[in-house]
Amino acid sequence: MDVVLFGPPGAGKGTQAKRLVDKLGVPQISTGDMMRAEKASGTPLGKRFDEYMSAGKLVPDELVLELVEQRLKQPDAREGAIFDGYPRTVPQAEALDRMLERLGRRIARVVAIEVPLPELIERTVGRRSCEACGHIYHLRYSPPPSPDRCGNCGGRLVQRKDDTEGVVRTRYEEYRAKTEPLLGYYGKKGLVRTVDGIGSLDEVGERIEAAVSGE
Ligand code: AP5
Repeated sequence: MDVVLFGPPGAGKGTQAKRLVDKLGVPQISTGDMMRAEKASGTPLGKRFDEYMSAGKLVPDELVLELVEQRLKQPDAREGAIFDGYPRTVPQAEALDRMLERLGRRIARVVAIEVPLPELIERTVGRRSCEACGHIYHLRYSPPPSPDRCGNCGGRLVQRKDDTEGVVRTRYEEYRAKTEPLLGYYGKKGLVRTVDGIGSLDEVGERIEAAVSGE
């Protein structure tokens, strides 16, 4: 099954994608995580990604498509994927449709998580992620057992460079201008279900599961 988790920066896509992985038995594909990993490897491509990401701007489509095409070829993605933060523009959505069609698949559901801007800022600015296992915390909403160590694996907790209020506002503007129009693209195909992203992780998770299963 192929599912898109859709929403503005900090809506909870990554958190909820990780919870859905076991339920659906398919991997999370996060272009943001893949770009951060490329950057951490110090490659020239990673440096190019970082120029856009640290400014809160979308990375150009042509740099993103190759990344996803390669990821979809990996064996764990044979039966489907949970797309987190991808697609983000209409050309990306069209490219994804073509890639999936070649594999005899198509998007089954787009779940749009709705959260207002002040809450998005609070969530992103307070976010900490584990460098080693990727677990996502929030200093207030889902605090780690110690401020700089992961409770799962003991890895170091870090704050993303693009998680400052100013950059989050730019990311939100990019979302409104370039990504939100995708709701029209997928809406015409009857694939969109919107869920309220305010509530506990379990409450939001249950809404998302219900939306994925068509309730
Ligand atoms: P990316 O990494 O994809 O970031 P994003 O889409 O902006 O989303 P976030 O990761 O910030 O938030 P999220 O919705 O996953 O929330 P999370 O679960 O972490 O992209 C970063 C950049 O990379 C982009 O700006 C762009 O430059 C580039 N990029 C990536 N993909 C691209 C593409 N396809 N095309 C072009 N450019 C691309 O939760 C946030 C916080 O809230 C956490 O602390 C969490 O603990 C907390 N939280 C979650 N749920 C709740 C809840 N219910 N209640 C309270 N707190 C909660």
